[in-house]
Amino acid sequence: MTDAWNPELNERFKQERAQPAQDLIALVQARPGMRVVDLGCGTGEVTAELHAHLHAASTVGIDWSRAMLEQAKPRAAKGLRFADDDIASFAPDEPLDLVYSNAALQWVENHPALLARIHGWLAEGGQIAIQVPCADRHPTHTVAGELGEKYGTGSLYHGGRRVLSAEAYAEQLFKLGLREQRVFTRIYGHLLPDIDALVTFFSSTLLNPYKAALGDERFEAFLHDYRAGLVRHMGESKPLFFPMARTLMWARL
Ligand SMILES: C[S@@+](CC[C@H](N)C(=O)[O-])C[C@H]1O[C@@H](n2cnc3c(N)ncnc32)[C@H](O)[C@@H]1O
Repeated sequence: MTDAWNPELNERFKQERAQPAQDLIALVQARPGMRVVDLGCGTGEVTAELHAHLHAASTVGIDWSRAMLEQAKPRAAKGLRFADDDIASFAPDEPLDLVYSNAALQWVENHPALLARIHGWLAEGGQIAIQVPCADRHPTHTVAGELGEKYGTGSLYHGGRRVLSAEAYAEQLFKLGLREQRVFTRIYGHLLPDIDALVTFFSSTLLNPYKAALGDERFEAFLHDYRAGLVRHMGESKPLFFPMARTLMWARL
């Protein structure tokens, strides 16, 4: 499943995907000599920007997709490296001053346990900055789940079940002792050229597991039905407004 990730398609919506990453970077308090990890770093572009912005001592971007890491590795620089690792089992080899993760943890199970693990990695005064999409009630997500039933895979995106409410994240962070915190859900309004652009937007992320499970030919049919389902709910205006909900959280130990 991991190599269904498509860096090229992901890059096509760079501007739409960049804003939340920037907003998340802006929440971080820069300190001298920071040791940073970026969980689910993808192509490493955001990781490199974060590293440069913070003048960090060391930054490690981890990802489990070979295709993504191929894009990321050439960005390695002084103090910045990339590693093949699974967020679910990753353990840093030194205490961290920042755990950053943009649009990746929705693929990982059990967020309360994950936050507890992340908390355990932090050095004194360590920070977390995490962004997860929370658009599971939007037709882009519900239609995919319904089609999963029709195509016999079942719903393959579990982000809606995994991602907690903003309030629940705030509570989890508080229980862990992260009392200095900012947690909020923001709607990112994307103006896309048309409905096909919206299909392409999700074909590189949300729909990845369907592509891997169905194979190319059946996935083509799935995409056709997905488009039709979106048109039923959203129409076909050009341009097309797509409001995408994301939860951002920052906290400091
Ligand atoms: C939507 S991309 C975001 C990439 C990057 N953070 C950015 O903002 O450009 C999600 C990334 O999470 C990675 N990912 C998902 N689950 C993972 C896991 N369990 N371990 C490591 N990487 C994972 C995917 O391979 C993908 O590169």
